[in-house]
Amino acid sequence: MRASRRKRPAASPAADAERLSSYPHPYPTGWYRLSDSASLRPGGLRHIECLGRQLVLWRSEDGAPHVMHAFCPHLGANLSHGRVRGDCIECPFHRWRFSGDGRAAHVPYSKHIPQGVLTEPFPVQEVHGQLFVYHACGSGGRDGTGQPAYPVPRIPEVDAGTFVFRGAHDAGRVRMHLLEFAENSVDRAHFQPLHGQMRIPWTRLPVPGVEVEHDADWRVDRTVPWKMYFFDNAVLRILGRRVERAGAHARIAFFGPGGVVKFRFTMPGRGDIEMYQTHLPVGPLEQQVDFRWFADRRLPRLLVWYVVGNWISQWQRDIDIWENKIYQQHPRLCRDDGPVFQLRQWYRQFLPEPGLVAATPGDLRRADVE
Ligand code: FES
Ligand SMILES: [Fe+2]
Repeated sequence: MRASRRKRPAASPAADAERLSSYPHPYPTGWYRLSDSASLRPGGLRHIECLGRQLVLWRSEDGAPHVMHAFCPHLGANLSHGRVRGDCIECPFHRWRFSGDGRAAHVPYSKHIPQGVLTEPFPVQEVHGQLFVYHACGSGGRDGTGQPAYPVPRIPEVDAGTFVFRGAHDAGRVRMHLLEFAENSVDRAHFQPLHGQMRIPWTRLPVPGVEVEHDADWRVDRTVPWKMYFFDNAVLRILGRRVERAGAHARIAFFGPGGVVKFRFTMPGRGDIEMYQTHLPVGPLEQQVDFRWFADRRLPRLLVWYVVGNWISQWQRDIDIWENKIYQQHPRLCRDDGPVFQLRQWYRQFLPEPGLVAATPGDLRRADVE
C-alpha cells in the first residue's frame, strides 16, 4: 500500500537542536517492531540501529529469532557481518559462535570457552508476521524474573481464524518524538482543525462538502499500568447534515509508550478491523512507522481499504505539526484542553529515572547503562 507524503523542507540545525533539547528521553521502555517476519528467513541476519543501540537481528536455522548487541564480546567485530550456524551466530573475525542467550558456544582454536552471558541478548517476540524487541531503559519495565513486564498483544480473532491479513504499509521515517503520538490522543482541541475535514483515503486531498465530527475519550487501564485507551466516535456531516450511519467507532489501545498501538475499527452492523500502528525510534527525533491490519473475513476488501486509508490520511495531517514542533514542558493550557498532564504522568513510567531528562547523547549513555 502506498500513501502520498508531501515533501517538506528540513528544519534548520538550530531548530532541530531546540526541539531535541525540549523533549524527554527518546527511547522509553517498551516493545518495538524491528521487522516483518517474512524478510528474515532461517539463517538470515541483519544489523539494526535503533533505540540508541547497535543490534544484530538473526534467525537460527530452526526458525527462532534472536536479537543481541551487534558487536562481538571478544574483540568487537560486527556480528551481523558473520553468519548463522545451526542455532548459533558466528563472528566473522575469529569465528567464535554464540547462542541466542548470549553465551559462547564454540571457540575454534581453544577448549577454554569463557563462561556466562558474554553479550547482551534482548527479549524477542514474533506476533502475526512481525518481529518485536523489548527495550528497557532505566531500572523498570521488568517483572520479578527479569522478563518484560507484559507481552506483545495478539489479536484473538486472528488466532481463532475469523480475522485474516488484509494489508501492510511501510510509512517510512517521521522526524518526531515518540511521545507526540500518545499526547495527540488527549489533545482534543486539535481534532476539528486538523481532522475535521474528510480526505480521499490514502491522500491529503479534501473531499468537498464532507466534514467529520469527533467525539473522543481517553482512559488509563484500571488493571495494568502500561495500557491506555483512546476512543473516537467519528460521524460524517455531508453538506451540513449529520449522517449517523456513515461513521465508524475506533478504540485505540496503547501497550506501552507508543511502540505498539492497536486500533479496533468497528463499522456498526458490518464488522471489525484490527490494525497495528508501530513506531521504532531510529534516532532521538526519528520514528520508523509501520501499519499492519487484519479484518473480519466477511468484510469487503474495498471497505477495509477505505477505512484504513481514512486513518492514514488523517494521521498524515499531524505529521507536519510533529516534525516542526517542540515539547512544551510547561504548556499554558486553558480549561477546555484535554488531560495533557494526566497523559504525561502516565507516560513517565516508561522513562528512566528521574523522569524527564534532556535527550542529549550524554544522558542517553547514562540511561542505557543503568
Ligand atoms: S571479534 Fe568476534 S570472534 Fe574475535
Ligand atoms: Fe491528530
